[in-house]
Amino acid sequence: MKRIPSVLALLLGVCVSRLDAQSGSQAPGASNDAAVPSLASLYQRFFPIGAAVDPQTLVTQENLLATQVNSLVAENDMKWERIHPRRGNAPSSYNFSGADAIVAFARAHGMRVRGHTLVWHRQVPGMVFRGDKGPATRTDVLDRMKDHITTLLTRYKGQVYCWDVVNEALSDDGGWRTDSPWFEAAGADENGDGIPDYIEKAFEFARQADPSALLFYNDYNIESGAKLEAAVKLVKALKEKGLVDGVGIQGHWSIFGPDAGTIRDAIERFASLGMQVQITELDLSVFVWGDNSSLAALPPDLARRQAAQYDALFKVFRDESGAPGSSRAGQPGRLTGVTFWGIADDHTWLDSFPVAGRKNWPLLFDTSQKPKPAFWAVAKW
Ligand code: G3I
Repeated sequence: MKRIPSVLALLLGVCVSRLDAQSGSQAPGASNDAAVPSLASLYQRFFPIGAAVDPQTLVTQENLLATQVNSLVAENDMKWERIHPRRGNAPSSYNFSGADAIVAFARAHGMRVRGHTLVWHRQVPGMVFRGDKGPATRTDVLDRMKDHITTLLTRYKGQVYCWDVVNEALSDDGGWRTDSPWFEAAGADENGDGIPDYIEKAFEFARQADPSALLFYNDYNIESGAKLEAAVKLVKALKEKGLVDGVGIQGHWSIFGPDAGTIRDAIERFASLGMQVQITELDLSVFVWGDNSSLAALPPDLARRQAAQYDALFKVFRDESGAPGSSRAGQPGRLTGVTFWGIADDHTWLDSFPVAGRKNWPLLFDTSQKPKPAFWAVAKW
């Protein structure tokens, strides 16, 4: 491996910290500093502020999480491969350690917990779809799904207030995601109600297991176009059966768009169906989709652009919350939560996607966990 000469490394370090200073990311004090207000408190009358965490970030970002958010979601630890890594439904088939740590942290800090996610085509072991001789039968797959959902919702009843029951069942062209193993095993629509059986069953099993939990359909790119139309159709059909309470718009966007008006329209569209809407995985990449170039540090102009985009989005979010004084005050079905996919740029999935090893800066706090211009845009209005 090539080593960077130490003088060059020193110079690079100076440049990076000067850029940080110019972009304002070294501004007012540490995250748990009294000079940095708590977003959770500032947004108390609008909606909970959440963050995706894992057992490691509960330690490395403890102060920031404890002061800034009042809602948590497991970034990976409630997904099938983590929480249910072994075949069968015996207690020994499960590994609750990560999820339990997150729920315990939330309880200790008076936070709520979103559950993510029960049925997804990723991070689910292949064995769920395998039988003794070839693919598992539809019945076996649905039985395994029922066991999984029932076990999780029973264990976390009263502690996890809502669940992303089905995640990303639609493709970008508005069709079903037919390459999902769930779709392959139970994607038929046997009762002809327009809902693939695995989706309907997942919601049914979740409703049965914990009638007090709010049940969400969660997806990305559902704020416009064919995928929005398809999500509206799906949610409407589920709603007619009393199986869904909310829609999660993931919010993996960029500092270049989509524009806040598009998001407002999508929230209102889902709200008009009687849905709660939550932004469930918010982060704003500083790269436009398709740009695979890299940056050594976050340039000040991009930090400002990011702040402006967060500002525009949060204006819409506050307005759509239905809080007193907002345009939707008192109406049913509205924005009931905003969850960031992380809290600080020292831990973000965007460092490995879509370009492995490329640094990105999508969140409100920088890699030293200090507030960025984006934070101040969200905190001051
Ligand atoms: O745990 C293993 C570890 O044992 C192994 O050594 C390592 C090797 O790569 O991989 C580790 O697992 C990784 C896991 O994150 C935990 O870090 C997986 O490879 C990696 O694929 C996984 O990525 C997650 C991704 O979902 C997978 O689909 C991201 O952290 C997570 O942020 C991301 O979250 C999804 C939401 O659930 C749904 N919406 C999109 C969002 C972003 O993709």
